[in-house]
Parts: sequence; structure tokens; C-alpha cells
Amino acid sequence: MNILPIDSSNINFKTCARRYSPKNIKQQGIFGESIIRTSTNIFREDIDWLEFTDFIVHHFLPKANVNIHSLACSDGSEPYSLAICFLKKIPKTGLNKYLPIEASDIDSEMIKTAKSGRLNLADFELDYYDNSKFIMRDFFKQQSDALVIDNDKLGINPTHSYEPISELKKSVKFHVGDMLGELNNLKDEGNSVIMCRNVFPYLSKTYSDNILQTLDNKLKSGSIVVTGSFDERADIINRMLSFNFFNPINGSPNIFQKK
Ligand SMILES: C[S@@+](CC[C@H](N)C(=O)[O-])C[C@H]1O[C@@H](n2cnc3c(N)ncnc32)[C@H](O)[C@@H]1O
Repeated sequence: MNILPIDSSNINFKTCARRYSPKNIKQQGIFGESIIRTSTNIFREDIDWLEFTDFIVHHFLPKANVNIHSLACSDGSEPYSLAICFLKKIPKTGLNKYLPIEASDIDSEMIKTAKSGRLNLADFELDYYDNSKFIMRDFFKQQSDALVIDNDKLGINPTHSYEPISELKKSVKFHVGDMLGELNNLKDEGNSVIMCRNVFPYLSKTYSDNILQTLDNKLKSGSIVVTGSFDERADIINRMLSFNFFNPINGSPNIFQKK
């Protein structure tokens, strides 16, 4: 299996871009007033979501439950992408093995946004994914008003928003939390999937070293960590491999398994 980017030239990349509050920037050791993009989008292209779902299903066959955490989840596009794949692939009776996904972000405005049960998806974003794999309008219903996100400086000025269908909504639980705190609270039995994607370049070296060490300490053999292509700017592959992790899938350097 080869989980590779599908299309990294997607024009919809900046679906949800905002300016961080200085408080959060200082807390995590990021400099001054720099703009932190919380860019995210549904089915972000640095992973093949359906193949990744197949991998999780096969990898954790012997386990009764799989705990999936989406750390630094932004507006929820990431956990919803994975949840849609499970809804598509797994019979209803088997879904509670994987769902709900626990999603968290340090930015309370993002979590407020996510908890509102709305997403400012652009129409073209939905159309882009309308193909044989995902009929996005089966999962998101258009609403007549836009979702207002404080400090959204680079957004798309939408005129309306979308609401996930109730089955999808209840597949993801959102709360405010910083990555390290979430990992410190983790209880793993070798049945976890930890998504910490496209966030490392925003973190101070000390804080991100702490995260990697905590992943190593907390996760038991077999658990999975997923990073994103943007994390390469923080040399994340080499750094993960320097701990007790290896790449279980050829050609997918951002998927790591605890030894
Ligand atoms: C570029 S977005 C990535 C969103 C999503 N993971 C993805 O790949 O599309 C980065 C997110 O990291 C969050 N973040 C930054 N520092 C964090 C921290 N220390 N703990 C939790 N979330 C953090 C930001 O609030 C933002 O929503």
C-alpha cells in the first residue's frame, strides 16, 4: 500500500486561515505577532484518506476498540475527513469500534467554531470532491448563513455555511486542549491513532521535543502517529524515527508505528 498525496495543487488550501491570539503564540514559544495559519481543508491532500482508513481497519483487527485522537484539529475538517471514510466503509454496527474521534485544539475560537456544528466550506471545495469516492453533499447540508469566526483574516468571506449530517456530527467530539496536555492524559493499550498534523513548524523546538518524547513514553507497541507534509519543515520524519517509531507502510513517511 502506498499512501501518497492525491493533489497538492488544490486551490482550496486556505479554507480556514486565521490570526492567532498573541496569548497562544506566547504560550507555545512562537514569536511575536507572526501570522499562524490554521489552514485546513476537508480531505487535505497529503494523505489518501480511504487507504489510511483501510490501513487502520486491518492494522487494528485484533483490537476491540481503537481510540482516534485528532490533536490540533483546527475547525474540524481533519477529523470529519476521517469520520466520513469510516461512515463509508464500515457497517453501522461496527462503527463504535472507531468512533467518535476525540478532536482538540489549543485555540478556543477554533473549538467554538467546530462545536457550532458548522463549517465554512466553499461551494467549490465541495464540488472539488464530488466524485465517485465522496459525494460531499451527502455529508454536508448547506445553511443560509455564514459562520462568523473571530479574527479570520484570510478566510473566504463566505455567504453561507455547511452543517454536517447528524451521523457525521456525532462521530467527532471537540474540546479545547493543547497537544502536550492531551498526550499526558492519554491511556494507551497499543490501540491508539494520534493525528498531529501540519502543526510542528508552529511550535517551539522545546515544546515539540516534549511532544515527541511524550508520544514515545505514552504509546504502546502498535499504536500509530500521523503527521502531515507541512511538518517536514520541522524535520519531523527524522525526529520521529530517532525515537521508537518506524514507518509501517512503504511510501508513507508520515505514518509511524510504535515499536
Ligand atoms: C495548520 S492547522 C492544522 C490543522 C489540521 N491538523 C490539518 O492538518 O489540516 C494548525 C492547528 O494547530 C493548532 N495548534 C497550534 N499549536 C497547538 C498546540 N500547542 N496544541 C494544540 N493545537 C495547536 C492551531 O490552533 C491550528 O488550528
